[in-house]
Amino acid sequence: MPEAIAYERQGDIAILKAQNPPVNALGLDMRKGLVDGIARAEADDGVKAVLIYGDGRTYFAGADIREFGKTPQEPYLPDVCNRIEASPLIVVSAMHGTALGGGLEIALSSHYRIAVPSARMGLPEVHLGLIPGATGTQRLPRLTGVEKAIEVITSGRQIGAKEAQSLGIIDRVAEGEPREIGLAYVQDLLDSGAERRAVSELPAPQPIDFDAAYEATLKKSRGQLSPAYGVRAVQAACELPFAEGVAEERRLFMELMGTDQRQGMIHAFFSERAVGKLPELDGVDPRPINAIAVIGGGTMGAGIATSALLAGLPVVLLEMTPEAAEAARKRIEGNLGGALKRGKLSQEKFDALTQTALTLTTSYDDLKDVDLVIEAVFEEMGVKKKVFAELDRVCKPGAVLASNTSYLDVDEIAASTTRPGDVLGLHFFSPAHVMKLLEIVDADKTAPEVLATGFALGKRMGKISVRAGVCDGFIGNRILKTYRTAADHMVLDGASPYQIDKALTDFGFAMGPYAVADLAGLDIGWATRKRLAPTRDPRERVPSYMDKLCEDGHFGQKTGKGYYIYEAGKRAGVPNPEVTKLIEAERAELGLSPRDFTDDEIIRRYMAAMVNEAAKVVGEGIARRPLDVDMVKLFGYGFPRYRGGPLKWADLQGLPALLDDIKSYAREDEYFWQPAPLLEQLVAEGKTFDDLNKAAG
Ligand code: 3HC
Ligand code: NAI
Repeated sequence: MPEAIAYERQGDIAILKAQNPPVNALGLDMRKGLVDGIARAEADDGVKAVLIYGDGRTYFAGADIREFGKTPQEPYLPDVCNRIEASPLIVVSAMHGTALGGGLEIALSSHYRIAVPSARMGLPEVHLGLIPGATGTQRLPRLTGVEKAIEVITSGRQIGAKEAQSLGIIDRVAEGEPREIGLAYVQDLLDSGAERRAVSELPAPQPIDFDAAYEATLKKSRGQLSPAYGVRAVQAACELPFAEGVAEERRLFMELMGTDQRQGMIHAFFSERAVGKLPELDGVDPRPINAIAVIGGGTMGAGIATSALLAGLPVVLLEMTPEAAEAARKRIEGNLGGALKRGKLSQEKFDALTQTALTLTTSYDDLKDVDLVIEAVFEEMGVKKKVFAELDRVCKPGAVLASNTSYLDVDEIAASTTRPGDVLGLHFFSPAHVMKLLEIVDADKTAPEVLATGFALGKRMGKISVRAGVCDGFIGNRILKTYRTAADHMVLDGASPYQIDKALTDFGFAMGPYAVADLAGLDIGWATRKRLAPTRDPRERVPSYMDKLCEDGHFGQKTGKGYYIYEAGKRAGVPNPEVTKLIEAERAELGLSPRDFTDDEIIRRYMAAMVNEAAKVVGEGIARRPLDVDMVKLFGYGFPRYRGGPLKWADLQGLPALLDDIKSYAREDEYFWQPAPLLEQLVAEGKTFDDLNKAAG
């Protein structure tokens, strides 16, 4: 193993090269190496300056996140930063790649900073449920002023080198290798007689109304604490001497380190990276994808085509009629229009995507050369089978055939072709060019390289891809159906849809289930209720009050009325009093006397239903690991990231208490609340869902 920090001398310059691949994370060896390196340079006769840079793809990308939650070991990162700044030698950092978190804090503790034009920097700790904890909240505002520092710290966004220079975060931008531009800069500084310069010695920044900034930040982050703590830390930079400000930053940092939110967000960070790694695909090469086809250019087909075009893939879109094909083009243009307006897409690029890269057709013969097809026609098995029969007829051998079905049996679709090994589900979420989640449905006969091709396509489109097995609704929609049913039961028993939505948005969900139903269209649930009615178990409790609203043509946002009433041009609605009347009438008809629900009970029941179904999904192998469920809910269903996902939440709550809840609810409704065998097993063995994640590697 090479040393974490390599020491080298060039003339009167000492060079500290970080070499801890892949991202030069600042683990214990790196911290020790930096302190030792500075001390060695100071003791090295004739050394006047020190250059710090990173080997490989980046400067330091931050503290080593894998150390969080363990006992911190000295030297601590803030002390390393202060040690660097206190050196009598001139210390220069040369940045490339991503200088993030503790990485940027090391740079801010250097006396001068230079970066290559492509370098990106920032303090992303809020995304880990933390604040910068190595003097960043104290040094950054001294350079940028308070408002900009708060914006950078609370958003955690990455800043390009040019902007960083304009904000005063770095001194110089230069093309070249970090070592070369760094050495040239150090030489310039030495030649011009530049002096050591310490950010901590700059005057404290001007204060603002911190209480107002704190409240505004807390509101914006929907219950996530870390951004608001960032405001308090910057306040300390204004109000306290530097060393005391650093101590206050450390106190806030350590407080956040002890929270469930920090655990949830770090779980999300690692799960996001683990979810696409499947041991069975190790060494399996995906098939090459150079051109794709999309069948059906409605809401989903147009979104999928947009996503593929943006990923640089030419798309042939097949519709039933030329008019429907033109309507699909309009939808795609609409999808790209926002980016065009915001200047994120040039007119030239827009034209190239919508005209050159996109081909519209009504003939299957135009599909004979494509490498992969995604079907997004109406959700009817008969229609899908006809489409797949046509694809089977025209597509070249080896072409991957995918369905975007939400619920239908992909095994049955595959069986309608002569090449079931080439068939899989690619379940996108609406709007498909925006939503990050992609469920990759591994059907009974899907070949490993076809599954690998699905993951490769997902990666190319910038999606979070999650493998799912075949069942009604796969991972996400199957679990959704269960917790939505739990909510419906609570409505029959006395809660209002509005109280439920409010309790869940307060919990951190982007939207409550009834606002979501209005957005998706109430006609979808209505059609499902009608479809399932003949086979329904008599013990199932299914409310019918919304059927009446649907019969009158009210389908939610798209018709202006549903659970909520939507004024033209407004996305948020106000409660629809008709719904309340319909609910009351149904309760009376069923002889139910409504009772009060606390917000806490609403959340416990809703989450218990979600966790219980999720445990069944994992137990049955529909999801490989608990973390797969967590990522589906985070990226497709607005689950608050700071809670990590439903199964991480369950672990943090304690599984025995959750199982007790489920058993107590089962005393009222034994049919609905059947405990998941996996949950019972974990409780019996004293294990957690995370133990299963770890066991899966
Ligand atoms: N600590 C430990 N491991 C890290 C890490 C870190 N800070 N950053 C990345 N890694 C690991 C990843 O888990 C991944 O491991 P794997 O190959 O086993 O899955 C590997 O490094 C490569 O990472 P990515 O796949 O994410 O590579 P990308 O090139 O896509 O992205 C990146 C690189 C932009 C640096 C991205 O990894 C990233 O955002 N990392 C986190 C940066 C961060 O949050 N830094 C702040 C840390 S907190 C802190 O510094 C506290 C301080 O203020 C006290
Ligand atoms: P849609 O009704 O908006 O679009 C369907 C399109 O398919 C229409 O433009 C129609 O003209 C076309 N079409 C129908 N039969 C065809 C055929 N035989 N050949 C060519 N084109 C044909 O429907 P939407 O919402 O886009 O759904 C499509 C599929 O995606 C369904 O399977 C649905 O379950 C699934 N899905 C829908 C989601 C949503 O939120 N709307 C989310 C995820 C999946």
